[in-house]
Amino acid sequence: MTKTLENLRAAFQKLYGREPRFFRAPGRVNLIGEHTDYNDGFVLPMAIEYETIVAAAVREDRKIRVRSVNLDEAGEIDLDAPEIVRRGSWLDFVEGVARILERRGAKLRGVDLLIESSVPSGAGLSSSAALEISVGLALTESSASPIDKIQLALIGQAAEHEFVGAKVGIMDQYVSALGRRHHALLIDCRSLEATQIPFAAQDAAIVICDSKVKHELADSEYNTRRAQCEEGVELLKEFLPGITKLRDVSVEDFAKYESKLPETIKKRCRHVVMENERTISAAKALKNNDLAEFGRLMWLSHASLRDDYEVSCRELDLLVEVAQKSRLVLGARMTGGGFGGSTVNLVPLEYVDEFTEKITTEYKQQTSIESAVYKTGAADGAGEMTF
Ligand code: GLA
Repeated sequence: MTKTLENLRAAFQKLYGREPRFFRAPGRVNLIGEHTDYNDGFVLPMAIEYETIVAAAVREDRKIRVRSVNLDEAGEIDLDAPEIVRRGSWLDFVEGVARILERRGAKLRGVDLLIESSVPSGAGLSSSAALEISVGLALTESSASPIDKIQLALIGQAAEHEFVGAKVGIMDQYVSALGRRHHALLIDCRSLEATQIPFAAQDAAIVICDSKVKHELADSEYNTRRAQCEEGVELLKEFLPGITKLRDVSVEDFAKYESKLPETIKKRCRHVVMENERTISAAKALKNNDLAEFGRLMWLSHASLRDDYEVSCRELDLLVEVAQKSRLVLGARMTGGGFGGSTVNLVPLEYVDEFTEKITTEYKQQTSIESAVYKTGAADGAGEMTF
């Protein structure tokens, strides 16, 4: 048992006086395929070596008592009392997952939970998906009501939609539930099928640079982008009957009809159509271990998110620019929803230290902000921790 777990176990025993079981779920970094998931397209994320751990023991009643080690905050949810939605705190994720599980047929027992996470929050690395999936697993397993991992991901997503108010796609919850060590996951967000692509990073490492900024716009603009994509589909339907999402529009068809779209909608749709294509190409490149091609597609993805989808920001652009000028990386791009958070960099192993030094120094010089750098391999998705 690791030191973290020993400490968590001791804290759990002190708090609740019982022996817990442990469940974990990781955060994620998206390698490519940004803002394509809610367009029924493809994404290529991997689970990271930063995770949320939930220690859990059943109770005799139907209460969920929960405490966060990181925040030093606690809450209580009575499953037999009316639902509370959108409190505006981390408890929304816990309550959302519990309530949606029950709505979909699970009969949950009460539990005592103690939660600790190493996923940096606010960095665009899906600390919320890690929380939803680890709690969902703890609740279902403690109630002897096991659940399929894809269903669990859908429940996490529904909790965000209803209890948090964020209309997210399925990527984060899916990869947190189903990621695999040394693999990236090509997810078809329409069929919900996924292909595990080996990514052992023997030749290159994934280095995440956290800009440490999160602009206010993030949530409202996310929903605006979704709406703009839907508007694009409605307009394109006139020429391409039968399409239901941008996923259905090929690069060739888009080139034929893009001139029919208003300027902003055209740019949004162009990003999604091209990004989908890039994601499929990137998955092929990864299969062929062609990291140079993979990196090239990452640069293009960033430019498209910056210029066409317009979800980047000065800080993220700067991190990518410094990476590009350094000539130490194969590819870099913003990752996640945008308007702050992190960039993901594909860095040849021999340059990792030099790159880390350079990016943190230059970012500090130009913004006065202390960034954070996380190096990570691809980790396993959620599961119970056994010893
Ligand atoms: C957030 C959402 C995901 C996805 C990304 C953008 O991380 O949670 O579903 O839409 O933004 O690719």
